[in-house]
Amino acid sequence: MGVWWIVVVAILAHTASAAVREYDWEVEYKFGWPDCKEGMVMAINGQFPGPTIRAVAGDTIVVHLTNKLATEGLVIHWHGIRQLGSPWADGAAGITQCAINPGETFTYKFIVDKPGTHVYHGHYGMQRSAGLYGSLIIDVAKGKREPLRYDGEFNLLLSDWWHESILSQELGLSSRPMRWIGEAQSILINGRGQFNCSLAAQYSNTTLPMCKFKEGDQCAPERLHVEPNKTYRIRLASSTALASLNLAVQGHKLVVVEADGNYITPFVTDDIDIYSGESYSVLLTTDQDPSQNYWISVGVRGRKPNTPPALTVLNYVTAPSSKPPSSPPPVTPQWNDFERSKNFSKKIFAAMGSPSPPRKFKKRLILLNTQNLIDGSTKWAINNVSLAVPGTPYLGSVKYKLKRGFNWKSPPTTFPMDYDIMNPPRYNSTKQGNGIYAFPFNVTVDVILQNANGLNANASEIHPWHLHGHDFWILGYGEGKFRPGIDEKTYNLKNPPLKNTVALYPYGWTALRFVTDNPGVWFFHCHIEPHLHMGMGVVFAEGLNRIGKIPDEALGCGLTKQFLFNRYRH
Ligand code: C2O
Ligand code: CU
Repeated sequence: MGVWWIVVVAILAHTASAAVREYDWEVEYKFGWPDCKEGMVMAINGQFPGPTIRAVAGDTIVVHLTNKLATEGLVIHWHGIRQLGSPWADGAAGITQCAINPGETFTYKFIVDKPGTHVYHGHYGMQRSAGLYGSLIIDVAKGKREPLRYDGEFNLLLSDWWHESILSQELGLSSRPMRWIGEAQSILINGRGQFNCSLAAQYSNTTLPMCKFKEGDQCAPERLHVEPNKTYRIRLASSTALASLNLAVQGHKLVVVEADGNYITPFVTDDIDIYSGESYSVLLTTDQDPSQNYWISVGVRGRKPNTPPALTVLNYVTAPSSKPPSSPPPVTPQWNDFERSKNFSKKIFAAMGSPSPPRKFKKRLILLNTQNLIDGSTKWAINNVSLAVPGTPYLGSVKYKLKRGFNWKSPPTTFPMDYDIMNPPRYNSTKQGNGIYAFPFNVTVDVILQNANGLNANASEIHPWHLHGHDFWILGYGEGKFRPGIDEKTYNLKNPPLKNTVALYPYGWTALRFVTDNPGVWFFHCHIEPHLHMGMGVVFAEGLNRIGKIPDEALGCGLTKQFLFNRYRH
């Protein structure tokens, strides 16, 4: 009787504070002017970027998502939300659900269990590149105190934008020979950028003409209006398709306090690197000359930039809002100064009191990242397998043990240790595949991401890897080939940061650790949209006999469709 009473009280306490936030969303293409040039954007209820979801930790989010696209399927992934107990609501097409057909509605329902800055985005084809994204911000639960003090906040959702349609981009990527999408035409801040003109044209260091638009135009920048001597929280999230970014605010220091929805040990920086799939919060104190305005600049790093930086203005309300800043925008650090990038990553430590990782791993994967040719198509492969997502979602195949849903044989858990990571791949044995890594419930898994040379000599790229369903601890980064038995000694087991996205640097390795405590099937992939499209991902499955009920609506395709049909007939 005592136990039941506690359960009842716990349920009452939960329902008393937590809210259900319900949304009806319709997705369709519309004409837009994200960077002043007309193009097709994916809009939610007519908005691009999509509406911001703002909730409180513990809330339940319900989204009734209707596909109003004429000819494309649709899903939305809630990036950074772990989906504890709701793996079917993760929104990864082919992994956790079937794509929603044109005309159909699918309902996502999940709990946002902890505070943080996140994004949601399309996860079918290259729909993220078409502008299907928005902010998802979770505030601290009522009665709980946030370990930060600030007077106001801003939210900057960063993305990159192409003028070529995603269908044409996809066709190019899968053509033989591959046609690369090239660098973005524009970087967008909250869906706004300026193509072929510059807000900072009055200074001599750009050849672009001055932008001409009326205030309120869709591509006019949103200025950040601030009062002097206050502290502001700026939430940053990147849903870029390709670009690694660096943000700086002229004349102001930034104190980084949150990374991927986890508090970190605060540190001061002049500028912040942010990879696709990452989010941060920074605190900015308005301690500069209040009669001036200041540039906020977001430039490309990690790839040779061919896209001008995105700009907006930090406007002290004590200065005229149209007054241009007194000097040119901050210059983005050298794109290929990877030492600088690594040094930045290595400054991120968990906040005091964060959970520390188990001391030892039970299972380990060493995942070699390579670029390969398969029958003349350019692909990315992990341990020589390029992922081809099957027509039946994995979650349904494992739940109902459908033998033919995918290849049940595990892909390789490591690669030949004599592989030469410094040169282009020598053999052409790479295959497409759809096998997955299955783990028992509640074991500690280490993943070593190993970078290598791509198809062209002397080139190794940055890959920001993102894991669904989990935060992981980043145990360390290293140069060259990972040395089992030696490099573990360099791990940070004391205060490694918890994140859901981490950079893999050229010719180096990144080590991460997580515990398989969330029954489900979870995508783990490079967050660069074209790389993912070319097979750069793997799939983890865990606690398979503990997966709860999956709504049939998630599985109305492929083999699960027939399976469910047969089940109802009996
Ligand atoms: Cu934000 Cu699977 O991605
Ligand atoms: Cu990549």
